[in-house]
Amino acid sequence: MELKNQIALVTGGGQGIGRVIGDNLAKSGVHVIFGDINFENAEKSAKAILANGGSASSVLLNVADPDNVKEAFDAIIKDFKLLDILVNNAGITKDGLLVRMKEDDWDQVLAVNLKGSFLCGQQAAKQMMKQRKGAIVNIASIVGVMGNSGQANYSASKAGLIGLTKTMARELAPRNIRVNAVAPGFIDTEMTRVLDEKIRNKLIEQIPLSRLGLSDDIANSVAFLVSARSSYITGQVINVNGGMLM
Ligand code: NAI
Repeated sequence: MELKNQIALVTGGGQGIGRVIGDNLAKSGVHVIFGDINFENAEKSAKAILANGGSASSVLLNVADPDNVKEAFDAIIKDFKLLDILVNNAGITKDGLLVRMKEDDWDQVLAVNLKGSFLCGQQAAKQMMKQRKGAIVNIASIVGVMGNSGQANYSASKAGLIGLTKTMARELAPRNIRVNAVAPGFIDTEMTRVLDEKIRNKLIEQIPLSRLGLSDDIANSVAFLVSARSSYITGQVINVNGGMLM
């Protein structure tokens, strides 16, 4: 219970990795606010924690909409008076080879994955600067470091997020706010379950630990990065990928 009574917002927490990140934090005593464009799913994430005796709530949040982001943060600060932890996890893919990629698919992916993290990071920073305390974790991707055919928009957004992480870390360190990124490799989620078996097996062959990652692998790294156990770590990218990239 080392994070007891801390307040965390997990964006895109309505399903997948974000939901598991929230569950993990709740087990350490954190009150987890799930923000998602799919409010029904955000509510489900919160209810599951409440049913297990934890503390959680939900908020409608479209990270790509500046007005909605401001509204959601204002409501959170009004209710809780502080925000200790932000996990910028909301992310989308709209894959296609470079020469065929539609401009709109580029814009949408950049708007959610990169601009969304900037908008939420900016709102969180304003509050955390007043508190002189906070931890922010941005969920990037191995693809932001390595590139990946068919993901020009996604890899650019995640590489951008890594740059944003480092600048936020430098700007906010004097106020005792740490900012780090977790770059997952290929994780067993809806996003990767759509791959056909051949492609999946090919992927696994490239992973020294011979398996896809689990959402728990990511959630454990996030829990470490928001805890006092990592109090001298900021501006870093933790690669959680089974050794796929060294
Ligand atoms: P997912 O698609 O299962 O969940 C994403 C969540 O974000 C959904 O609940 C969705 O409603 C929400 N969302 C989408 N647009 C939003 C918006 N504009 N505002 C607020 N919420 C929004 O995805 P998954 O697999 O759980 O991924 C989570 C994060 O991890 C993403 O940033 C993704 O890029 C990253 N990641 C995932 C990997 C994987 O293998 N699944 C690998 C590397 C990174």
